[in-house]
Amino acid sequence: MTTDRTELNTIAARHGISLTDVVPVAFEQRMVELERCLGRTDIPFPIAADAGKQYLETARQGLPFAIGSLSEVMVDLGQYRNAQRYEDYTLEEHLSWACLIAEQQRTKSRYACQEYLDGEALFAIGGTTIPDFYLLNARIYQQTGWQLATVNMIIPAELFFTCHSQRFFPVTTFMRPLEQDYLQEPDIGHDVAGHVATFTIPVVAQVMRNHGVARNMIYDRRDELLASASDAAQQASIRARADELLLYAERIYWFTVEFGLVMQRGELRAFGAGILSSPGETKYSIDSPKPTRLLIDPSQDSDLLRLATTDYLISEFQKTYFVTEKFELLESLTPERIVAIAKRAAKLPHFSWRDVAPGDTVLNFGEAAISTSEKYLRLISQQPLDDCVTRTAIRNLRMIGRGLQADVDLDRCWRAPMVAIPTAILEWFRRVDAEGQFSSQVLRPLSNETW
Ligand SMILES: [Fe+2]
Repeated sequence: MTTDRTELNTIAARHGISLTDVVPVAFEQRMVELERCLGRTDIPFPIAADAGKQYLETARQGLPFAIGSLSEVMVDLGQYRNAQRYEDYTLEEHLSWACLIAEQQRTKSRYACQEYLDGEALFAIGGTTIPDFYLLNARIYQQTGWQLATVNMIIPAELFFTCHSQRFFPVTTFMRPLEQDYLQEPDIGHDVAGHVATFTIPVVAQVMRNHGVARNMIYDRRDELLASASDAAQQASIRARADELLLYAERIYWFTVEFGLVMQRGELRAFGAGILSSPGETKYSIDSPKPTRLLIDPSQDSDLLRLATTDYLISEFQKTYFVTEKFELLESLTPERIVAIAKRAAKLPHFSWRDVAPGDTVLNFGEAAISTSEKYLRLISQQPLDDCVTRTAIRNLRMIGRGLQADVDLDRCWRAPMVAIPTAILEWFRRVDAEGQFSSQVLRPLSNETW
């Protein structure tokens, strides 16, 4: 898209900025700043002189980061490895960043957790031009030990989260179109203005790493079993089981690292990167009466299971936010516990993103809230609210119709017992499902594997 300067001026003015302030920093000036940064010693993770020299040369030549050059640890990005071509960013792209930051400024001091605000200042995220990744990467490493891994597209989840397990954070070099507040695909706005500042919340960075390690545990077990699988059917079943566990582990990540709220000094604050990278959702997540907000203690298995069993959509602002009572409670999310909860979640009926369940600590009922039973009634009456409600209802009815595993005691999973699904609904579902009424639904197969 090409926009003329008059229109860019109008857009800039709409966000309270002047287009004349959107001036990319010249190459030499960026290099001077980088050299000064690399020489710092008053930081938790100093960069060795030799490594700093090599890194500066990499930046001068515009080469991809030599992954691991600032630490002993390496990750291999393969074909996805990329360099940020700073000089190639257009004025529109820089202005898009400037507008996003300007809108964030208006919302974050009221809605973001304090640690996020501190992180932005520490990493110098802001301003009116897209950050230089060489400089940003050095600053992040010096303060937290994490490093950026610049990639050329959205990379496979397995590689993305393996990077996390090694304290590398993949960042895209793409900037969202002007004035686009919400987008499903991560861009610099999401990755940098959303995620990077949260690295200064030690427990959030730890959850990111632990989730990456938990996924590696699942990948390793999958690969071990695949190596001795006797046929294609068995291989498919092993893969389905792994995918299922990964999905449930990822929901824990989603409802904390991406869309988490926290109580601070008696008030709601946002720390999820998915929220904070969208000024609109930042305000909505805290002020709007539309979403449901549930208070959780993630150190309790019942509450962590609630996250792992809650299905969601990514196409719009969230319908339910989980509010962690305090950051310290997230310290309980070890890799082993994440895997154990994912395994338990695989055996349980699930919630949709609109459900409010018995035992939930409700801070407010959103406009879209429904009881856990309503999704079944909506399915019967063919009035589903959205794909999430439909697929959750179908999954649960198939699972319960098939019979829960013997070791599942539903009443002990949650803070309060669930309301049983009436037999008439189960019988109706069994009949119409057998007739193929829901065969068009793309559903995750219920795996028979138990590892
Ligand atoms: Fe993200």
